[in-house]
Amino acid sequence: MKAILITRKGGPEVLEMHQLPAPVPATGEVLIRVAAAGLNRSDIYSRISTAYGKNDLDIPGLEVSGHIEACGPGVVRWKKGDAVCALVTGGGYAEYVAVPEGQCLPVPAGLSLEEAAALPETVFTVWLNVFRIARLLPGENLLVHGGSSGIGVTAIQLAKALGSPVYVTAGTDEKCRWCESLGATRAVNYKTDDFGEAFKDIGIDVILDMTGGDFTAKNIHLLREDGRIVWINSMRGKNATIDLSEIMRKRIVMTGSMLKPRDKDFKSALASEVEKFVWPLVANGAVKPVIYKILPLKQASEAQQLMESSEHIGKILLRVS
Ligand SMILES: NC(=O)c1ccc[n+]([C@@H]2O[C@H](COP(=O)([O-])OP(=O)(O)OC[C@H]3O[C@@H](n4cnc5c(N)ncnc54)[C@H](OP(=O)(O)O)[C@@H]3O)[C@@H](O)[C@H]2O)c1
Repeated sequence: MKAILITRKGGPEVLEMHQLPAPVPATGEVLIRVAAAGLNRSDIYSRISTAYGKNDLDIPGLEVSGHIEACGPGVVRWKKGDAVCALVTGGGYAEYVAVPEGQCLPVPAGLSLEEAAALPETVFTVWLNVFRIARLLPGENLLVHGGSSGIGVTAIQLAKALGSPVYVTAGTDEKCRWCESLGATRAVNYKTDDFGEAFKDIGIDVILDMTGGDFTAKNIHLLREDGRIVWINSMRGKNATIDLSEIMRKRIVMTGSMLKPRDKDFKSALASEVEKFVWPLVANGAVKPVIYKILPLKQASEAQQLMESSEHIGKILLRVS
């Protein structure tokens, strides 16, 4: 099969297309003939940093869509030919990938295969962090940094669909207006305006934060009593200075999570919840894939370069077959 390999740690040029044997599905796994693969920021960290996968010669890619090509022993739900999308733990930038059957979901009604590839990683992440960990309730206010990211566009739509006003930050005015057109109540350009000042009278209940660093103290100020903040990255820095008396006074809950290292049982249980609670919102159009650009698999380097530029709004995909 054709697959993109991280040939060594480095810039986008280290991604190369190679011919490799297709994986063989193990017990409980299915082999997917990949139609499209979604890009995620984590793919770039895997390419650059030894902290994210020590192996060179990894195939990046955390989500795919396609058809089931073969089933390993013990697979009960799927059969050859079924159209699915799946959360995978690497290996998505390839013509075939083997994945535990529980991490596959049916392509939602009304969506193309390509559109379905844009969903798993962000839907699983937002569902886990905003609704399960931070327990956002209908009517509570959500603040999302990186509003125009793959994660952001899912968070805006999902929280709005489930009854919460969503406030976001983004890096350009154009992105801000776009986030508002998608359903955000208000978007602030963090490069030109002080989001701490702009949102100070809202009373934020939950913050989904990928920034950390210097945004942290402002985030804590914006949270109302019993507010929750959940980190999924720290793009502005891992260290922050906070006023602990404010945490105690407002009883703020601070937490975070990483989806990629969780095991297949955890991911499969999450898939069941996503199918039950989120898939109906995709089927009725309340949550839509937002696709910025689709490039052919052989242009994986260009696709990652585009993501690193942060020019995009929503998802970047690779067309595989
Ligand atoms: N922990 C987990 O399980 C998990 C799972 C999935 C994703 N994530 C994280 O979630 C984030 C979004 O992922 P994605 O795949 O949706 O990536 P993405 O589409 O590339 O989005 C990254 C966003 O971050 C914003 N950004 C970049 N540098 C920034 C900075 N210094 N300050 C503020 N904003 C900045 C970018 O746009 P603007 O600067 O123009 O606004 C962009 O919207 C990533 O950090 C990723 O690692 C974590």
